[in-house]
Amino acid sequence: MSFNQSNRDFWKQRATQWGDDANGSWQDDYMRELEMEALWQLLPCREGSLAVLDVGAGPGHMVDELNGDPQVRCTGIERELIWTLDHKQVYQHEALPFLQVCEDNTYDLAYCVRVLINMPHSEQRAVLKEMCRVAKRVVCIEEVAGGRKRLNGVRTALGLPPLQAQEFNKPCKQSLFKGFETESLGDLYYLLTRAARDLIDDPSTIGYNGRYHLQASALDESYRLMTPISPIRVFWKDTP
Ligand SMILES: C[S@@+](CC[C@H](N)C(=O)[O-])C[C@H]1O[C@@H](n2cnc3c(N)ncnc32)[C@H](O)[C@@H]1O
Repeated sequence: MSFNQSNRDFWKQRATQWGDDANGSWQDDYMRELEMEALWQLLPCREGSLAVLDVGAGPGHMVDELNGDPQVRCTGIERELIWTLDHKQVYQHEALPFLQVCEDNTYDLAYCVRVLINMPHSEQRAVLKEMCRVAKRVVCIEEVAGGRKRLNGVRTALGLPPLQAQEFNKPCKQSLFKGFETESLGDLYYLLTRAARDLIDDPSTIGYNGRYHLQASALDESYRLMTPISPIRVFWKDTP
């Protein structure tokens, strides 16, 4: 099966299973919390209302949270029909055709969260280029290929086998984000929940969001000064 088809099948299945529950996008509550926090911090400070676009909005939880701020008018586009059916501010569109017909600088901010990794590299470049054209600020929270190598370096040091990327993902090349500022998200949390976790006798019982993950997130919250270990990066840029 082609990459595009297996990727679509995966998200269709997730949407069917989870409906508008944010867990359908990622079951890791703490990482989703960090993503949301990063986005709030990068919202432009301007007078008046802010027009925001979520590219690949999934269940729409970020759109909802942003719209809780009376200054923000956030719209989402999402290609998976099941996710858009019951959501007032998320509309069914493929990223590229939608962006291509938008005027320059239509939005104050356009963002995508774990969306570019669902496309071939050539499409990632095309979508990002259009996002930079239609918005004054662009924020991408995406996995980069080199990031997983670093995480696996830690696993190797601990005598653990490498974690494989999911076959329905194409981690972004770091060079895609040339000219963007960047920071990693949840380094210590990643170390604890994607490496140290496997040193425990039966890691299969740990899952997500249980006691171990809560302790790891508490540690991560208090420890934000580590060289990148997480493969997840935030990139942002004000467009010319
Ligand atoms: C990992 S989910 C992330 C959803 C959401 N951004 C979030 O943070 O919860 C990836 C989403 O991107 C959507 N997607 C992938 N390629 C797309 C495209 N070309 N146009 C619109 N949506 C796309 C998928 O259908 C899926 O809902």
